[in-house]
This record gives sequence, C-alpha cells and structure tokens, in this order.
Amino acid sequence: MGLPMAKHLLINNHEVYVYNRTSTKAMDLVKEFPSSCHVISSSDEDIQRVLADQSIGIIISMLFDYQNIVDVVFQNLDKLGGSPLSGKVFIQMSTISVEQSARLDELTGRCGGEFIEAPVLGTNTVAIAGKLQVLLGCSKELFERVESLNVLQNFGSLKHVGEKSKAIKMKLSLNFLVASLTGVLANSISLVQSNDLDVNMYADIVRDSALYFKYFDMKLPRLLNHDYSDMNFSVNGIVKDLDCIEKMAEDSKVNTNLISTIKNLYEQAGNRDEQIKGQEDFASVFEIMKKE
Ligand SMILES: NC(=O)c1ccc[n+]([C@@H]2O[C@H](COP(=O)([O-])OP(=O)(O)OC[C@H]3O[C@@H](n4cnc5c(N)ncnc54)[C@H](OP(=O)(O)O)[C@@H]3O)[C@@H](O)[C@H]2O)c1
Repeated sequence: MGLPMAKHLLINNHEVYVYNRTSTKAMDLVKEFPSSCHVISSSDEDIQRVLADQSIGIIISMLFDYQNIVDVVFQNLDKLGGSPLSGKVFIQMSTISVEQSARLDELTGRCGGEFIEAPVLGTNTVAIAGKLQVLLGCSKELFERVESLNVLQNFGSLKHVGEKSKAIKMKLSLNFLVASLTGVLANSISLVQSNDLDVNMYADIVRDSALYFKYFDMKLPRLLNHDYSDMNFSVNGIVKDLDCIEKMAEDSKVNTNLISTIKNLYEQAGNRDEQIKGQEDFASVFEIMKKE
C-alpha cells in the first residue's frame, strides 16, 4: 500500500523521503522522480537522520503491524533522545489494535509530536487509483490543520471519524465485514459446488436479488479460479486484523463467537500450505471449506 501512496505524493509535487525494509522496491520511484524522491537506507543512522530533520513536518507510516512501527520508527526516535518529533505530526495508517494505537499516541507525545490515527479502507488497486477512504481519529482542530496541508487527500477522501481511537475502531468494524463476507461467500459456494448445483445459476440468482452486493463479483472470480496469487490482502494480514477485532469486541462487551470462528477459519487457511505460509490472498479461505 505504501508504494502507490508515496507515488501519489510525488505526482502532486511533494518532496518524499521513502523508507522500505527492502529498499530496492522504492527504486522505480527514484527513477521516475529523481529530484523529489529520496530513499532512506535500512541503516539506523540514516533513519534517525531523517526522523530528526527539522525541515520534515509530517511522518507517515504504512507498515504491516504495530511491532514494525515500533522497530522502525520508535526505537530510532528513542536513540535520538530529547523531543525529536517536536513540531511534527506522526500519521499512522496501518491496521492495528485500539490499545496499540493508544500506545503509539503516548510514544509520539513523549517524543514531542502530535499523533493522528488514519487507517484506510480500500485495496492496493484502490490505493493505485488514489481512491482510498482515509479515516481520521484526532481532534477537530488537528484534522482541520492536516486537511489544510493537502497531503492525505492525495490518497483519496478524508473522513474525520472523531477523537482518537474512533478511527481505528471504525476501521476494525469495517474489516470484520470484509473478513466475514469473504468467508461466508466461500462457504456458500462450497455448498453449491459440493451438491452439484450450477454455480452460474447461483450467481445469477444472487445478482437478481436483494442479496447482491458489489463485493460479490469482486471475489467470485478469484474463488472459482482458485486464484490467490495477485494479492489484495494476505491471509496473515486478515488474521492480524481479526486478532485486533476480537480484542475490541471483548473490551466493548460484544459477542465474540462469530469473530472467533471466522478468525479460526483464516488461521486454518494460513496453515494449509507450509510453502506459502499465509502469503496469498485471503480469499484462499475457500480452500479449507471442503472437508477431506
Ligand atoms: N492491502 C490492503 O488491501 C490493505 C487495505 C487496508 C489497510 N491495509 C493495512 O495497511 C498496512 C500495510 O498493508 P500492506 O498490504 O501494504 O502490507 P504488506 O504488503 O505486507 O507491506 C507491509 C510493509 O511493511 C514492511 N515490513 C513488514 N515486516 C517488516 C519488518 N519486520 N520490519 C520492517 N518493515 C517490515 C514491508 O516491507 P518489505 O517490502 O521489505 O516486505 C512493507 O513495506 C497493514 O497494516 C494492513 O493491514 C492493507
């Protein structure tokens, strides 16, 4: 997700310092935008130099999970000491848990900076099109200030969900819909196929009914072709998110039965192939629907 997002910033004339663990992945950006794109190497010194740069006002992270953010950003800030984020806004865009978001807010404050949680709805394809929905959790004043900088708008539309923690809670609620719809669709199709019913007729009936949702035709071809290679989002990613969703449900006294069952299905999908290790599209949950 980070790559197309950085590209939108560059297209719109922002100067961008890009960090990626595998720095070669950022090289095409440097070739395309040689004067405004700077790649940060994986050395701690290089990361610290950029984090401490007073001319940089906004730091955006789009790493896989909370631990990556701590390792890449906060361990390096720690080594700098003092208030290296003074005058800066740290915008965290990954899907993480409510507690993890609160912890990053606290760490940001300790380094003298302001924190915004800004998880997104939309796949990599949506990120390439610049049409993500960016959900913001922060004070109205900070939202208006960041909105006026015209940075996050490069990724898509902005929605101020409310104060801190509201945006990540909204994102996790939405992701439960994503995970469960995909699981339910996979389960329903396996019933059709295992009972010698015509899957095309099934699809036509759904399309002509009130049951139809746009997502149905996005996921159906993947399932019918058993094609999980061109990844929208990984099985490991959806398991990570379901962990956060389960915890949020427990804390807000919401029934966790369905959440735990769906998480268990994706865990099974992640364990189904020792070679792939959950690094395939999460639609592969379809593969574990049929009992041996
Ligand atoms: N993909 C989606 O459809 C989607 C939609 C909405 C939200 N999200 C959320 O957005 C975030 C990023 O998703 P993504 O799909 O871009 O994930 P991804 O393809 O797995 O990329 C994650 C990034 O994290 C880096 N990373 C992973 N482990 C690391 C480590 N130990 N140390 C340093 N860097 C590490 C990766 O570096 P390398 O390139 O070196 O591996 C990569 O830059 C996740 O929190 C995800 O839940 C994803």
